[in-house]
Amino acid sequence: MPYLIANWKMNLPPEGIDAYMATVGAAEPGDVTIVVCPPFPFLRTLGACGAGVCVGAQNCSDQQSGAFTGEVAPSMLRRSGADFVILGHSERRTLFHENDALIARKLSLALETGLTPVLCIGEDLRVRDSGQVSRFLADQIKVAAVDALASGEKVILAYEPIWAIGTGRNASGAMVAETLVEIRAALERFWPAAHARAPILYGGSVTPDNVDDLVEHGTIDGFLVGGASLDARKFLAIHAGLRRG
Ligand code: 13P
Repeated sequence: MPYLIANWKMNLPPEGIDAYMATVGAAEPGDVTIVVCPPFPFLRTLGACGAGVCVGAQNCSDQQSGAFTGEVAPSMLRRSGADFVILGHSERRTLFHENDALIARKLSLALETGLTPVLCIGEDLRVRDSGQVSRFLADQIKVAAVDALASGEKVILAYEPIWAIGTGRNASGAMVAETLVEIRAALERFWPAAHARAPILYGGSVTPDNVDDLVEHGTIDGFLVGGASLDARKFLAIHAGLRRG
C-alpha cells in the first residue's frame, strides 16, 4: 500500500490549514494512505478537520516524561492524534546533531508507544560521489536495528538523499530504483524478517513534474514531500502521479 506523506517542516500552508485540509481531504484516496505532518501545535487541529487524512509528527523525544525542557514524548503525540512520526530526518541529524544512538532510542520508544515511525536515511553528496552509498545506507539501517523491531510493528523507511532535499535537484527514477534495491537488501540482512517488505518511500524535491519519472520503475512505495506538500494542489498532483504509477 503506497504512502504519501507531507512534511510541512516549520511552515504552514499559505492558504490556511482548513482550506488545505478540505482540498487534500477531497482527494479520491484509492489505495494511497495520505499522512500530513504539521508542527507539533497543529496536530490536534489537523485531526479535528475530519478530512480522512492521517496525522503524523515530525519528531519525538526518546523519553516518555521528565525534566526535558522543550521535548515532546511519543505518548503525548498519540494523545494529540498522531499515528505516525518522522524520525532521523537529515535536518534533525545535521542542524540538531541527532546521532544514530539517539535516533535508535526514539525508534524503540515510538514503536513501543504504537506510533508508526517513518525512518529517514540518505547520503550526502560526498558519500554519493565517492561511490559509498550502498555501504553508508546499510550502516544507517544496521544501527537502527533495535530490539523493538522484533514486535513486527510497521516501520516505514524514507530514502532522502541529503543533496536532493530542498535543492530542486531530485534523484532520477533510475537512481532511486537502484538505491532501493540496496536498501531492501540491507533490510533483509540486518532487520527481523517481518520488515523485509517494509514500505520504502523516496523524498527530495518531489514535484508534480518529476513524479512520473520517479514512479516509472515500479519500486517506490510512496513519497515524503517537503516544499511541494505546502501547496494542496501540487500535493494532490503528486498523489495523482503516485496512483498512476
Ligand atoms: P523537499 O521536498 O522540500 O525537497 O523536502 C524533502 C524532505 O525533506 C521531506 O522530508
